[in-house]
Amino acid sequence: MRELGQQITRDYRDRDAHLVMVGVLKGAFVFLADLVRWVELPVVVDFMAVASYGASTRTSGVVRILKDLDEEITGRDVLLVEDIVDTGLTLDYLLSVLGARRPRSLKVCCLLDKPARRLRPVPVHYRGFEIPDVFVVGYGLDCGERYRNLNYIAVLHQEDAGRD
Ligand code: IMP
Repeated sequence: MRELGQQITRDYRDRDAHLVMVGVLKGAFVFLADLVRWVELPVVVDFMAVASYGASTRTSGVVRILKDLDEEITGRDVLLVEDIVDTGLTLDYLLSVLGARRPRSLKVCCLLDKPARRLRPVPVHYRGFEIPDVFVVGYGLDCGERYRNLNYIAVLHQEDAGRD
């Protein structure tokens, strides 16, 4: 968090307007909360809620916007904060929706990156960790809404996914 926050602080230091940090709900809520505390700049925090997965771990490929931004982003610096980039479908869609609003800049920060599963090439400007093709939970990440509160990130094995 400190390293990412310092990089972001360095890169946006000379901008005259507030950086708009956009958390993608629900998964990014823990990451964004920790990350913003390491960004030593005037920032505005906003959220978008999207649904790309159902109760299962399978990607549907369909992204729905459940909650849009409160902020106008035209002409502003926007940093999209994602928990994990997997197929890239969610990010690809969000970048096209937000890009159409003509922000001054639009960058991506993700905690975890699973490049092995990528279906769309998407830019990731700030990356916490690259991980292999495993399903992870905790620290905001869920499986069917469970495990978001874990204080660590764990690999969820298929045989554990349905268990109580
Ligand atoms: P993508 O559209 O396939 O890149 O998926 C992005 C979203 O899928 C993330 O924001 C997560 O909500 C969810 N997701 C992808 N991989 C995982 C995982 O390993 N654990 C939990 N959620 C995941």
